[in-house]
This record gives sequence, structure tokens and C-alpha cells, in this order.
Amino acid sequence: MDSKEMVDLCLKHTLYSWSATGSVNPIPIDRAEGVYFYSPEGKRWLDFNSQLMSVNIGHQHPKVVKAIQDQAAKLCFAGPGAATEIRAKLAKRLAELVPGDINTFFFTLGGAEANENAIRAAKLFTGRPKIIARHRSYHGGTNAAMQLTGDPRRWANEPGMPGVVRVMDPFPYNFSWGTTDEQITSNNLAYLEEVIKTEGPNSIAAMIIETVVGTNGILVPPKGYLKGLKALLDKYGILLICDEVMAGFGRTGKLFAFQHGDIVPDIVTMAKGLTSSYMPLGCMGVSDKIADHFRKNTYWGGLTYNAHPMGLAASYAAIEVLIDEGMIENAARLEPILRGHMERMQAKHPSVRTHRNIGLFGIIETKFTEFNKVHPPVAEMGKFFVANGLYTTLQWGSVMCNPPLCITDAQLAEGFAIIDEGLGILDRALT
Ligand SMILES: Cc1ncc(COP(=O)(O)O)c(C=O)c1O
Repeated sequence: MDSKEMVDLCLKHTLYSWSATGSVNPIPIDRAEGVYFYSPEGKRWLDFNSQLMSVNIGHQHPKVVKAIQDQAAKLCFAGPGAATEIRAKLAKRLAELVPGDINTFFFTLGGAEANENAIRAAKLFTGRPKIIARHRSYHGGTNAAMQLTGDPRRWANEPGMPGVVRVMDPFPYNFSWGTTDEQITSNNLAYLEEVIKTEGPNSIAAMIIETVVGTNGILVPPKGYLKGLKALLDKYGILLICDEVMAGFGRTGKLFAFQHGDIVPDIVTMAKGLTSSYMPLGCMGVSDKIADHFRKNTYWGGLTYNAHPMGLAASYAAIEVLIDEGMIENAARLEPILRGHMERMQAKHPSVRTHRNIGLFGIIETKFTEFNKVHPPVAEMGKFFVANGLYTTLQWGSVMCNPPLCITDAQLAEGFAIIDEGLGILDRALT
């Protein structure tokens, strides 16, 4: 198929997510390799967003492709009640890799299902009905995950599951808890304690956070926040769920983002980088005390594709590649280099307001960035990027910089050469 036929048929017979399909203009993707993907006619794009912040090891790594092929040749599917070699191997490997006493895992098909199961496990374990979630967050497109989500994707999906207490996080959209990390942490946690007390501590099972907030702005927790939050929740017997669907698997320069805060949550959820998106897979990891509970008590959840061998095989190989090829270290090494590029953009372009990054999880916030709005010059800049071979997302006017963790210094610079030119469009629109 050529690009035109591909696009026409996709638009005619499929619906696209979070948009009116008539206004979508999809990029036709035929093949991919490393940090690049290609149209059928050979046009190349540098993938500066790892598709959906998810192809952490880069595209089409031969070891992962081979592992998928081998698993397909041996056993494509076994029901969720079975024991399989790949289920045994991956769970054992995750128990070794995930810090602390998180040694037991429940596999799903993606991040939303992982979060649905995390809150289910928390409610069953504690016997409490409510969950605290934050406004600057996205936790998935299924019913409960949508209600956990703070951003406007929730609005059209309301009302949904009851019992979600939504709170402001350390970085609300148009409000500040203070100017220093210490002030922000202590003011936000004091507010949170007030919410917990007034909601009734004994009615709250868990709080879910994106350890580093992803689509809602690449927000790194202020110093001391994660430790303070864990201690506060422990005080009231409330579990901490860290959603590491986007931040996990090396994106921040460590395997999990919560390691930067020197904490271990009670439950961690994963997807995306878990297989680097080579196959759909999500996972909930639980601490030993929660796992022990479900060894004695029924876990009231299940999926036909729980622990699907194809997803597990992709995951085992993708994690091996991520670690053996030093990609987590590469993300940490490139953190200051990515920051340097962003500083250069800010110094040169009056349209840049600020920038943030941890590892290869980065964003350039422009002066056109506004909650839930896309201003016309931003859309124009997006078209420029696509026409000039750069793929990324523009979150309400900010430029996402989340390339695969195998990216080289030269490829990073290649991306910023295109961003540099694109930001000129915003500069001109400012004046
Ligand atoms: C932090 C976070 N949690 C959950 C999800 C949902 O994952 P999925 O789309 O695999 O259901 C996403 C997806 O973008 C995410 O970024």
C-alpha cells in the first residue's frame, strides 16, 4: 500500500483516539529502526517521543523481534490459569529488578488495566472504598482509570466510578504552593493531610500518583516530596500506588522514577517500557504484605489475556536489551546534554518560557502553553516538524522531548536542529 491508500482506508474504517477522526491527519508508518521510522515511500522521521513515550529501547531491536518469533513458534497462548516458562522467568526477573519487597506481579494488557487492578487490590487489601488521585495526571482510558485521571480527557467520561478524591498536586496549573522545593513540599503535604482528615482516613485505601507526571507536563516531584508523601500516607494506613507506566523502565535515568525519591511504594504499575511497546503488556507489582493477603484471600480480578505469553516474551527480551545495552545509563548520561539543548533554545527563542527534564523525559514549555488550548501557531509548528522529519507531541503548546533511550548525541542534536527552526514560527507569532 502507498501512503495515500493507507491513510484513506484508516480514516474511512477506523476511529482515532481522543479526537474527531475527521480532523486527524495520521503519519503513514511502514517500517522502523532504532530512533527512526519511515513511510512506504521512504520518508524518514526522527521519533522524538518514542511513539507514545513507550518505545524505550528504540524500534525493531532484533533480539526482541527474535524472542517474539521464538515464543510464537512455541506457544502463542495459554490461559490465565496456566503456568508457563515465560511467566515464571519474567516474574522472577521482575522480582530481582523491582526495588524493595515488591516481588509479586499481576499481568494485564496495558497501563489502564494495571491501574484498574492496582486500585482493586488496594481496596480489597485495606477494606476501604476511596482513592486519592491528582489533577495533573493521566492514568488510562478505562472507566476507573479515567476517574483517577485529572486532565480534561476525564470530563466527557464523567460520571464514572465513585469514590475518587481528587487533589491538587505540587504543581497545579495556575497556582503555586511556594517558591522553594521545601515550601512546595511542606505546603502541599499539609493541604493533603487536611484532605485526608476531612475525608476520613479510614475510608481511603490508596493514593495514586504518576511518580514523574508525564503528558501533563513532565513534572518532577520537588525535593523531599516522595519521602514526605510516603510517610504521611503510612501514618494513616493509606497505600501508595506509583503509576510508572510512562516514567518507568529507564526513562528518567533510573529503572523506576521512585528510586530518585528513595522510596518504595506499596504497589507499582507498569506498561509501555515494560515491553518497549513491542507487544501490549501491563503489570501491577505488589509488596509482600499485599501478596500474602491474596495468597489467603481471593483476588477478585481477571482477564482472558492475563499473563499472555507473547507479551511476556517481548517484555523479558526488551528488559534484557534495556539493561545489557546500557540504555538506562545512556538516559542518565544524556540528561545534562538534553538540558543543554533546551537551555540553548530558551536563550535563543523569546517564545520559550521554560524547560524541564529528568533523564530523557523532557519538555520545552513555550509562551503559547495554556491549559487545554492549542493556539494556531503551535499547530503550524507541529506541521513544520512533521514536514521536516521530526515526530513529537505538542502538549497544549509545549514540545515533548522523549526520544528512545538508545539515542546518540548526534541524533539528539539532529532533533534540536529541527526544533530550533520550528520555534522560529512561535517567535514570529509573538511579535
Ligand atoms: C502515566 C500513565 N498511566 C497509564 C496510562 C495508560 O496506559 P495504556 O494506554 O497502556 O492503557 C498512560 C498512557 O499514556 C500513562 O501515561
